[in-house]
Amino acid sequence: LFQNTPLAGPDKIFHLTAVYASDEFPQKINLGVGAYRDNDGKPWVLPVVKKAEDILINDPNRNHEYLPITGLPTFRAASAKLILGADSPAIKENRVSTCQTISGTGANHLGVLFLSRFYRNDVPVLISKPTWINHRDIVNNVGLEVREYAYYDPKTNGLDIDGFLKSLNDAPNGSIALLHACAHNPTGVDPSQEQWRKIADVIAAKGHYPFFDCAYQGFASGDLDRDAWAVRYFVERGFELLVCQSYSKNFGLYGQRTGCLTVVSKNADAAVKIESQIAKLQRAEVSNPPAYGARIVNLVLHDPKLYAEWNDNLRTMSSRIMDMRKQLYDKLIELGTPGTWNHIIDQIGMFSFTGLKPSQVQVLIQKYHIYLTDNGRISMAGLSTKNIDYFAKAVNDVVRN
Ligand code: LMR
Repeated sequence: LFQNTPLAGPDKIFHLTAVYASDEFPQKINLGVGAYRDNDGKPWVLPVVKKAEDILINDPNRNHEYLPITGLPTFRAASAKLILGADSPAIKENRVSTCQTISGTGANHLGVLFLSRFYRNDVPVLISKPTWINHRDIVNNVGLEVREYAYYDPKTNGLDIDGFLKSLNDAPNGSIALLHACAHNPTGVDPSQEQWRKIADVIAAKGHYPFFDCAYQGFASGDLDRDAWAVRYFVERGFELLVCQSYSKNFGLYGQRTGCLTVVSKNADAAVKIESQIAKLQRAEVSNPPAYGARIVNLVLHDPKLYAEWNDNLRTMSSRIMDMRKQLYDKLIELGTPGTWNHIIDQIGMFSFTGLKPSQVQVLIQKYHIYLTDNGRISMAGLSTKNIDYFAKAVNDVVRN
C-alpha cells in the first residue's frame, strides 16, 4: 500500500540533537536546539520550578483527573495577563479568548487552524525570511499558503526594515502576518519600537491580521513586560489579533508541552464564540491538554514570591547568554577572525545568526563535532566558559579556509 510513500527528511533541529547524542568525540558541542544549558552544559531545572513541583507533590488533593478541554482556567487567565499586561483594555473588556495548548507549536497550530476555518483561507500566511523552521509546515498542515516577507539583511546582519514594509505592502489585503513578538528565531534581530510602529501602520492600512508567536518572553531583555511591548502596542492600537505563548524556554518546561493561545477580538460576544470554536477544535485533536506543566506555571504566576524568584531565574539565564555573546565576540576579535562580528553582541535572545555559510557549517560539524543548523544559527546557551575557546578557534578556522 505505502511503497510509493516518499521518505520524509529528518527534522533539521531534532536530527542534530540525535547525531550529537551519538557522537563520542569528547569536545563535541550542541548549538542546535534552542534549549537552555548551564555553564556545565547541563539542562537547568529552574529553582522556582523545583519549588513549585514540591508544592504540587505535597498537595493532599493532588490527582490526575482531566483538565477542562481548554485547559486550567486560572492558568489561561494568568497567561493572558502575562502577555497582554494586567491593565490590558482587552482583558478588562472581556474581549479575550484563551486556550491552553501543547506548548508554542500547539498554539501556532490551533491559531492557524482556527483562522483557516473562521477567518479566511484565501489569503497567505506571511512568514519572515528566515523564520523558525517549523512555521512553514504548521501553516501548510492546515492547508494555508505561506509567503515570505523580507526580514534579515545579510549585508548588515540586521533588520531589512524597508524590505519588510514593502513585503507587507505587496501582500494581498487581509493576509495573516506571522510576527515574532520578541527574540526572533533564528536571527536574534528584533524591530525597534519605532520600527514596530511602522510595521503596525502598514498592517493596519492593508487590513492584515497580526499573528504573534511569543516563545521567548523574558529572554530578549530579561524583562517580561519589555518583551511583551510589541503585542501590547498592537492591542492598544485596537487590532484584533492572536498570540501564541510557549513556556518551554522561560520556564524550562520543554518536555511538558505547556503553552497558551490567546485571541483578542472586538467584543465580549465574539470572544465567547471564538473560545467555543477553539474548544471544539481542541477536543477533536487532543481532547484536553496535559496538566503538569500548566499547574507549575499557574502556581508561579499567582504567587508574588515565586513570581519574583522566576524573574531572578530568567535573569540568570539571559545574563549568562549575554555573557557568552560578549566572550565570543571578544575571542573572535582577539583571533583577528576576518569579517565583522558586532552582530553577535547586537542580536538578542537565545540565538545568534552567525552569517556562517552552509559549507562552513558542514566543516564545523564534520571536523570539529560542533552541531548547528545549516542556516548558521547557533543556540548561545550551548556555549560555556569551558567550550567557548574551542568554538571560537573552530569558527576562526572555517572562516579563514
Ligand atoms: C528551536 O528553534 O530550536 C526550538 O524552538 C526547538 C524547536 O521546537 O524547534
